[in-house]
Amino acid sequence: MKITCRLLLALLLVAGAGAVHAADNCELTIDSNDQMRFDKDTMTVDASCESVTVTLTHSGTMAANIMGHNWVLTTEADMQGAVQSGMSAGLENDYVDGEDESVIAYTEIIGGGEETSVTFDLADLDPDGSYVYFCSFPGHSALMKGSFIIE
Ligand code: CO
Repeated sequence: MKITCRLLLALLLVAGAGAVHAADNCELTIDSNDQMRFDKDTMTVDASCESVTVTLTHSGTMAANIMGHNWVLTTEADMQGAVQSGMSAGLENDYVDGEDESVIAYTEIIGGGEETSVTFDLADLDPDGSYVYFCSFPGHSALMKGSFIIE
């Protein structure tokens, strides 16, 4: 009986280790709201991830053309330029200029109750780089931004 218990414990430990490994932070979620805020100011992804999926939700009720939000990833240095080019691109382009190569990844603009996601390769990013995510809806990035950390 004692042996059986030890075996069971060993199996549980193995299962636990497997669960930890499977929980590599390659799939991130972030919420946004009618108060023009994200619910996180930092998002961390494991450097071991080949690709990353970010799911953006909007827990508010306001429409996309009034209180729309997206999730845009650039280097910290490129953020202001991408905000500017995105503003010119307009809502029909999700406030992202498709020609602006400084934009690493982005989602569409969503309104209250909606959800969207984007998947991108992590291999192209520098683990020591300074990356930020923000909402490119005009006027939102001052409040809606955070650090995207690879570790
Ligand atoms: Co926004």
